[in-house]
Amino acid sequence: MWLMVQLMRNQDTLSRVRQEIAEAIGTKTAMIDDSILSTCEYFQACLKETLRLHIPGPFLVPHQALENFVLNDYTIPKDSIMLVNARTIQLDPENWKDATSFKPDRFFGSKVDFRGNHFEYIPFGSGRRMCPGYQIGFRNVQLVVACLIYYFDGENPENLDTGDIFHAGGLRRRNRCL
Ligand code: HEM
Repeated sequence: MWLMVQLMRNQDTLSRVRQEIAEAIGTKTAMIDDSILSTCEYFQACLKETLRLHIPGPFLVPHQALENFVLNDYTIPKDSIMLVNARTIQLDPENWKDATSFKPDRFFGSKVDFRGNHFEYIPFGSGRRMCPGYQIGFRNVQLVVACLIYYFDGENPENLDTGDIFHAGGLRRRNRCL
């Protein structure tokens, strides 16, 4: 959703993404699938930038200290519940130039990814409790947004097909909404 908002606001970026997806699909198939999208590096950079600006889990999930430890001069007692403010980390101007702007180019050709090795960018957390579904999560979002961009013509809403397709007892009937 946030990526669609950002692309609507940044029409040049939307055109570039649309063209990249169209070129990747080419004449190969009428359907978009994962393997096609893996070549769309700019589109992926847009997704990463969206996960940076609009992190779905701003505090990750609560973690608990297994023992007493000291972190940056603070003593954290055993059993404390800790929240990691990932949103603030991802919007920190010390880590990110023009931190609150949508600039997908910062990820284009960059080695920074979401696998938990770059602590300035942790939309799926990091370490042993990081999100085990990060691959499938990212790919699903990628697929849904790519379909919206590729098949949905937002500029000509009058052409939108609002028909329903019913499947009942093997019969397939198409009804058009009025
Ligand atoms: C875009 C989609 C997703 C986002 C942004 C996301 C984000 C996160 C975050 C931030 C955490 C906490 C990590 C930490 O505290 O270090 C987490 C944990 C977790 N996620 Fe996801 N997630 C997504 C999709 C998924 C999917 C698709 C699955 C399952 C198929 C999944 C399963 C889990 C589980 C089981 C945990 C708990 C792991 C643990 O505590 O050991 N997530 N996720």
